[in-house]
Amino acid sequence: MEVIVAKTAGFCFGVKRAVEQVYHQIEYGIKPIYTLGPIIHNEEVVRDLEEKGVQVLHSEDDLKKLKEGTVIIRSHGVGKSVYDQIKAQGLELVDATCPFVKKIHQIMQDQNKEGRRVVIIGDENHPEVVGIKGWGDDKTLVVKSEKQLDGLPVEKSEKLCIVSQTTFNYNKFKDIVEKFSKKGYDIITLNTICNATQERQVEAERIASQVEAMIVIGGKSSSNTRKLYEICQRECKNTYYIQTLDDLDPESVNSVRSVGITAGASTPKKIIEEVHTNVRIKRV
Ligand code: F3S
Repeated sequence: MEVIVAKTAGFCFGVKRAVEQVYHQIEYGIKPIYTLGPIIHNEEVVRDLEEKGVQVLHSEDDLKKLKEGTVIIRSHGVGKSVYDQIKAQGLELVDATCPFVKKIHQIMQDQNKEGRRVVIIGDENHPEVVGIKGWGDDKTLVVKSEKQLDGLPVEKSEKLCIVSQTTFNYNKFKDIVEKFSKKGYDIITLNTICNATQERQVEAERIASQVEAMIVIGGKSSSNTRKLYEICQRECKNTYYIQTLDDLDPESVNSVRSVGITAGASTPKKIIEEVHTNVRIKRV
C-alpha cells in the first residue's frame, strides 16, 4: 500500500509570507489589526487569527469606517485606489501582496505608459484580478476563455500586452494566447503564472495518474484548489475534494492500493499531515 504526498502541497511562498506578517503584526503592530478580506482561504487559520484579535474587513465600506489601526493587504493584492484610501484615512498599511503579484501591478503601469492595452487572462471576479485591474487604465480587458475573443472591442491596430492571473491554468493560458496571436495584433505576452501553481499542478497531475485514489485538500472557495481537483479528476476518477480530515469518508480510500495527496496554496501543513497520518494508519 502506497501513500504519496505531493512535495508542493500546501502554502506557497506568498501565502506563507502573508500569514507570517499577520502573526508578526499581532505581536508588534499598532492595534486594532485588520486584514482586507480573509488573509487566506482557510477557515481554521482565519478563526485562529480572529481569536487573536485580527478582524476581517469585507468591503471597502468597512475600510472607510475605520479611524485607527493597521490594515494588512493580503497576498492577492489590491488596486491603487485602496492604497490611496488607507493612506488618506491615516491608517497603518502593511503590504503582504505577493511579490509575484506586485510584479504584475508594475507591468500594468509600465505597459500603459508604453501605450499598450493590457489583457489579463483570468477570472474577472477573482480578488487578485480585481486588484491587478486596479493598476491599469480603463481600457484593460479581462479574458477567461477562448470563446470571449470573438466579441472583444479591440481594434486591429491596437498594441496589446497579455498577462495572466498567477493561478491560471497554463494550458488554457497558452490556448488563449495562441488564438490572440492568430488575430494578427501587435502583442507582447508575459507569462505571469506563478511557478508555485504550475509546479503544484504538474506534480498533482503526475501523482494522480499513478494512484487509485487522489485526495485534494483545500478551502471550498479556493480557486487554485478547485483547479487542482479538476486536473486530478481527469487523471484519476476517484478524486476527493476535502477541506479537513472530517470531510474524508474513510470508505472512499479503504479498498485502494495507492493514494495520492495534494493540497491548495492555502492549506496549512498541519491539515495535510493529519490527512496523511489518517490514511496511512488505515492502511496498516
Ligand atoms: Fe504568490 Fe504564487 Fe503564491 S503568486 S501568493 S507564490 S501562488
